[in-house]
Amino acid sequence: MKKILVFACLMLAIGCSHQESDPIETEIDEILSQMTLDEKIAVIHAQSKFSSRGVPRLGVPELWCMDGPHGVRPETLWDAWASAQQTNDSCTAYPALTCLAASWDRDLAKLYGQSVGEEALYRRKNVLLGPGIDIARTPLCGRNFEYMGEDPYLAGHMAAPYVQGLQSNNVAACVKHYAVNDQEFQRLTINVNVDDRALYEIYLPAFKTAVQEGGAWSIMSSYNKYQNKFVSHNPRLLKEILKGEWGWDGAVISDWGAVHETVGAAEGGTDLEFGSYTDGESRNTPAAYDHYFLAQPYKEKLLAGELPMKDLDDKVRRVLRLILRTQPNGKKGYLCSDQHYADCRKIGTEGIVLLKNKDGILPMKAKAKRIVVLGENAIRPMIVGGSSSSLKAQREISPLDGIRAAFPDAEVVYERAYYSGEPTPGRGYNYSFYDISEERPAAKLLEDALAAVEGADYVLFIGGLNKQKGQDCEGRDRESYDLPYGQNEVIEAIAAVRPDLIYINISGTPVAMPFAGDVAAIVQAWYLGSETGNALSDVLTGKVNPSGKLPFTFPIALEDGPLKTERQYPGIQDEDGNWQVYYDEGIYVGYRWYDTRQVPVLFPFGYGLSYTTFKYGQVKASAKAIKDDISFSIPITNTGKVAGAEVVQLYIQDVKSSVDRPLKELKGFEKVWLQPGETKTVRFTIGKDALSFFDAERHEWVAEPGEFKALIGASVADIRSEVSFELK
Ligand code: GLC
Repeated sequence: MKKILVFACLMLAIGCSHQESDPIETEIDEILSQMTLDEKIAVIHAQSKFSSRGVPRLGVPELWCMDGPHGVRPETLWDAWASAQQTNDSCTAYPALTCLAASWDRDLAKLYGQSVGEEALYRRKNVLLGPGIDIARTPLCGRNFEYMGEDPYLAGHMAAPYVQGLQSNNVAACVKHYAVNDQEFQRLTINVNVDDRALYEIYLPAFKTAVQEGGAWSIMSSYNKYQNKFVSHNPRLLKEILKGEWGWDGAVISDWGAVHETVGAAEGGTDLEFGSYTDGESRNTPAAYDHYFLAQPYKEKLLAGELPMKDLDDKVRRVLRLILRTQPNGKKGYLCSDQHYADCRKIGTEGIVLLKNKDGILPMKAKAKRIVVLGENAIRPMIVGGSSSSLKAQREISPLDGIRAAFPDAEVVYERAYYSGEPTPGRGYNYSFYDISEERPAAKLLEDALAAVEGADYVLFIGGLNKQKGQDCEGRDRESYDLPYGQNEVIEAIAAVRPDLIYINISGTPVAMPFAGDVAAIVQAWYLGSETGNALSDVLTGKVNPSGKLPFTFPIALEDGPLKTERQYPGIQDEDGNWQVYYDEGIYVGYRWYDTRQVPVLFPFGYGLSYTTFKYGQVKASAKAIKDDISFSIPITNTGKVAGAEVVQLYIQDVKSSVDRPLKELKGFEKVWLQPGETKTVRFTIGKDALSFFDAERHEWVAEPGEFKALIGASVADIRSEVSFELK
């Protein structure tokens, strides 16, 4: 009783604690000193599919985790993936994170984290398993839709406020998948060969920002290997870098089934083991959890003196810290509230990217009488699917429903135009609130679509990918960069009779668009979640002026990219049959490849149009020569007729360096909202770290004296103003 009283008083104290004197550490010492070995072992591995034990005797609660980055997954059975078929665990489905990244709006990221965190709080979760910030190294990666693009500066600076917002509810983020989990092909065992410079300049920075600026309380160790060691057993990544160089005090939670041995996990830096398939006999039975690698087998080695107690105590300390940090702080949780749907809609409208708008065909005119909507993605729900990020949403407004709601007086005709086939069943909650079965053969679908477009004021084609395996889905990569299900031919056939066709692409990753020159408008619409149809129609009607910018490059063809060989992607098997992938392209990922090598692309990184226009003035630097910080300022004017927002991007170019460097690298971005005719000055301040490259030999960041350029762009390929300065 006394202990619980102490614990309760402490929680009160924490509620009004100050940052500096953190009573949590005192409480951890107090609890740790009283824990038995069995209690210590119990808290560092799962007790069910998504929970781990607390210390009941000392009043320490258990820990509940749940997917995912854009909504709280429905409850599964105690120790199986199957759905628990509960009726109170629907959620708000937020836009997938590529949409958030495309907003380039830090405040929106914070709102997103805070909002989805309130749903996790309502569902009594301590840890929300997200955000995902692995780098979009290839457009084929099945999980790009869950991540935040190809540039570590953008990904990190959008993830950090999301983490802050989420954790303001005392719900921990679990930033994933640390690290270099940039493809799904052979993800469970593939060994990633990447040099230190690329590791430090491309694949780690977003995690470092999420940890050091976002304050993430937990990180998920990824399935793959690095330097031939599973990441969950990898002291270099988990101890040397994450907990050492970055001074991180959080808990490493393994991906589900990412721990494969006791010594490796014990010494490698994993603090909390989840999802392990143990020795087979005891899998999915109550005893299974005792067979976890950090359970009885670990205890035996500790008692035999084969492993040091200090590693166990460090794990327990970190897990206790995670439990204590995620105790209710008086904030309320909410589920499927009007506010959350409004947040969803706002995130969606701000992330949508207008890629082409010939003759200003968009926004659509309100007086439209007949609108023809084509394409399966106009009706296909996308919230179920994608695997672990799949959700049971209370609401999913389809693009077609959204368009109908926005044009109540128009005749809105729908034709499917293409068919993706029967959906592969999801994990038990693929409930059939939608019937998208189809009898007509492809030729008939096209024939019916062509017949429908006669006399239409607008023809919209809503296509792209979906959340099926092999599309935008965890566990497998796409086999082709092309749109699936014969969409290209259908789009071309319709554009031939309706060159004013408006193509709306729903995907979480780049796709080929051979028809780009034959359609009048192109909108990148992402997976927008519960408010999909409303967010999309808000932009199509001009109710919201689009302000999204691409978080990754759309190459014209896959072969234009930096991954030229099998060993670069998807990887090859070595003489022992182990899968190996080699990041031979080094730091030349995404625009660092296309822009530096001047490879023409379909749409560049950072690109996005508006219904208005912006003029960039001349950028000014705070000094001609610097030793450390430097500031830049530039006036931006809305020269059009409607209010809008512009994402002003700062790229840095090292004019002369002793090593090969990309032509430019993103080191700042600011989103500015402007009324027609209004001018605002946008400011950036950067330090030497923004000028540095990572010198792998010296294992340190180096900023070489000499000339640099600050390039201010509306995209990486559209530099509007630049200024030179010298680093002394
Ligand atoms: C999955 C995913 C991870 C998810 C976890 C729990 O395999 O890799 O992102 O959070 O397992 O579902």
